Amino acid sequence: MIGDYWPLFGLRVVTPRLELRYATQEDFAALVELADKGIHEPDYMPFSWAWTQVPQPEKGRTALRYYWSKWAQWSASDWHMMLAVVHEGRVIGVQDCAGRGFPKRWEIASGSWLGRAHQGQGFGTEMRAGMLELAFAGLDARWAISTSLVDNVPSLRVSRRLGYVDDGFDVLVGDKDAPRVAQRLRLTRDAWREHRTIEAEIHGLDACRDMFAEAPPKTKS
Ligand SMILES: CC(C)(COP(=O)(O)OP(=O)(O)OC[C@H]1O[C@@H](n2cnc3c(N)ncnc32)[C@H](O)[C@@H]1OP(=O)(O)O)[C@@H](O)C(=O)NCCC(=O)NCCS
Repeated sequence: MIGDYWPLFGLRVVTPRLELRYATQEDFAALVELADKGIHEPDYMPFSWAWTQVPQPEKGRTALRYYWSKWAQWSASDWHMMLAVVHEGRVIGVQDCAGRGFPKRWEIASGSWLGRAHQGQGFGTEMRAGMLELAFAGLDARWAISTSLVDNVPSLRVSRRLGYVDDGFDVLVGDKDAPRVAQRLRLTRDAWREHRTIEAEIHGLDACRDMFAEAPPKTKS
């Protein structure tokens, strides 16, 4: 069974209305279909790279290549998990969580999107809270960071409500568009505790914990 070698497939977080699960091949297909129905207004691009504007079938292939790359490139010191967000049995979006140099930096970065029909109902806040439970309670992270365009109000409000504070600016430079300014935000472990109001249960972490830990240093024989 693939789970014997890649136990991340058993990892999930359950919140009052949602399940966040380490995304499978079928979840990737569902995300591609969902993205095709629309994630944002045509005249507003919330992402740093405008992948949603690529014509099909290349848009779907681009998304799949990106998701598959996160499987193939996984290492304990540099990982990026795509968590499919499931509501009433249907995939409604994705919440990701990345730990670059995690066993030394103890910092995670995240990104997310929901299909348009599922936005504005508190799911964005709930899924971020579930991911934060995994990062802080499950993996002992010390900081979580997020970056949103300065005019992406829903994304910024999700972050601020959960206790993130402003942490400077980034300038995003796309292929064709003019540079855009993005707000960086940071959440400390203490602030996460103070703002933790959404219940979340983690399942399946013990089986894959070694995939988040560096191999012990070799001893001389
Ligand atoms: C960003 C996103 C994940 C947030 O999820 P969501 O479920 O829509 O957000 P919520 O319903 O949890 O609402 C979060 C906050 O934003 C506010 N909000 C939601 N939609 C809004 C809108 N269109 N305009 C203004 N405020 C809005 C809510 O009132 C809430 O504020 P509060 O906590 O102060 O009450 C979702 O909107 C989305 O997928 N957007 C498109 C992709 C995107 O921007 N991804 C992030 C890239 S950095």
